[in-house]
Amino acid sequence: MLSFHTIQETRDALNLVRQKGKTVALVPTMGNLHQGHLRLIETARKNADYIAVSIFVNPIQFGPNEDFDAYPRTLEQDSEKLIAQGTDLLFAPSAAEMYPYGLEDQIRVGTPEIANTLCGADRPDHFSGVTTVVSKLFNIIQPDIAVFGEKDYQQLAVVKKMVMDLCFPIKVVSMPTIREASGLALSSRNGNLRATDAEIAPLLHQTLNTYKNIILTGQRNYVELEKEATQILEKNGFKVDYFSVCNQRSLTKASSRQRDLVILVAAKLGTVRLIDNIAFSV
Ligand code: PAF
Repeated sequence: MLSFHTIQETRDALNLVRQKGKTVALVPTMGNLHQGHLRLIETARKNADYIAVSIFVNPIQFGPNEDFDAYPRTLEQDSEKLIAQGTDLLFAPSAAEMYPYGLEDQIRVGTPEIANTLCGADRPDHFSGVTTVVSKLFNIIQPDIAVFGEKDYQQLAVVKKMVMDLCFPIKVVSMPTIREASGLALSSRNGNLRATDAEIAPLLHQTLNTYKNIILTGQRNYVELEKEATQILEKNGFKVDYFSVCNQRSLTKASSRQRDLVILVAAKLGTVRLIDNIAFSV
């Protein structure tokens, strides 16, 4: 596996790859790789000849009181996993390489309406941090395809819209969330859970499932159901940011007539913020 910290070396290597007519896939990550990331890489492998993975904990997508400093950084172990997985190139830049003129004056890629609700409501600059860094990664790597996980449902929707609106010649491929046997969605943040919180965490997915099944029995009072689910989670020690029954396409609150639904949840256990979702049709 080739491993680079600079944009120039990465571009030079990828130019040679493209000259040979090979297609390139990018799996953008913030590292601390788990089975979910490795599945994204497997999917990339099925869709392209050459696999590039980026590892960059992107400072501009974290708010001032968020876990940027505490975010797990495990580059050495990650590199070993990537080699074992048959990754061709790792791009792991520093913040100075990605933002050489500083973080404050960086041009940001704007975000659509769907970025203003849910995670975007509590984290106002988060999605423009994501669209900006993903655009930069797309310009550096120039992949034919890019693979994202469906755990970050809203992020995936924002990235797909950005690719369409800004005419990036890139196919976005998504992969279902990988879960522990308990149902807990794999996340790099799970390792920061205290032992007692790790025992409670699977309740997040269980509650999504429970309320999906309640809706499938015909209940349509979503406001009431959201309130109930929030109370259950809070009683068990979560601090809920949102538990929201939404329209899959617009990510606005679902009306009782809509068919394609997604329930999205974000909740904190201690200092760790977890997100999950479940999409289904009624
Ligand atoms: O999902 C993530 O890990 C990040 O938001 C991404 C897409 C790598 C951008 O920093």
